[in-house]
Amino acid sequence: MDPARIIGIAIVGANGVIGDGDRQPFEIAEDWARFKRVTSGHPLIMGRRTHDAIGRWLPGRTTIVVTRTPEAVELPAGGRPAGHAVGSLEAAFDLAGSLDDVVYVAGGGTIYEQAWERLTDLDLTEVHAEAEGSVRLPPIHPDAWVEVSREPRDGFDFVSYRRR
Ligand SMILES: NC(=O)c1ccc[n+]([C@@H]2O[C@H](COP(=O)([O-])OP(=O)(O)OC[C@H]3O[C@@H](n4cnc5c(N)ncnc54)[C@H](OP(=O)(O)O)[C@@H]3O)[C@@H](O)[C@H]2O)c1
Repeated sequence: MDPARIIGIAIVGANGVIGDGDRQPFEIAEDWARFKRVTSGHPLIMGRRTHDAIGRWLPGRTTIVVTRTPEAVELPAGGRPAGHAVGSLEAAFDLAGSLDDVVYVAGGGTIYEQAWERLTDLDLTEVHAEAEGSVRLPPIHPDAWVEVSREPRDGFDFVSYRRR
């Protein structure tokens, strides 16, 4: 059974772009601090390319890396920070759901796309500028999502959506 809440978290340009190759186009300190705060204590599912781009296991939460070759992922030494590698998105949801009722999905493009229909919530940092890149978030259709909060900042908003 899926966890009660599966929250997609991303920082996204006004044109829907979230990445350019392996690069994440936005570097906003307040966004990263908030990402850390809201995801801490919860399982965080991410694709292998996003994990490689981050380049380390994040403290304070359990990262579940999705890859077709889990045996090739170097797990955190001594089991801390907590990290796992699994061979399918299904296995990631099973593991995450066994750990917590609230699970975050942190991208990248392939993972958002495959997980999209199962997401119950979106926690987005919507940047008021377009970005270069071909990795995009699926469109947020108003018939599927209702905006529940918006916190304006300088040049971006923290926005949450709930599935209708
Ligand atoms: N703006 C944001 O908030 C945000 C957040 C995250 C990422 N990003 C950006 O997104 C981009 C990366 O996204 P991406 O789409 O290229 O890569 P990704 O989704 O991070 O990772 C793709 C990899 O995940 C594994 N994978 C995907 N689906 C799988 C499945 N069903 N079963 C098993 N393994 C599976 C495969 O790993 P293997 O090749 O190892 O098999 C695949 O190559 C970067 O530009 C990054 O900066 C942006």
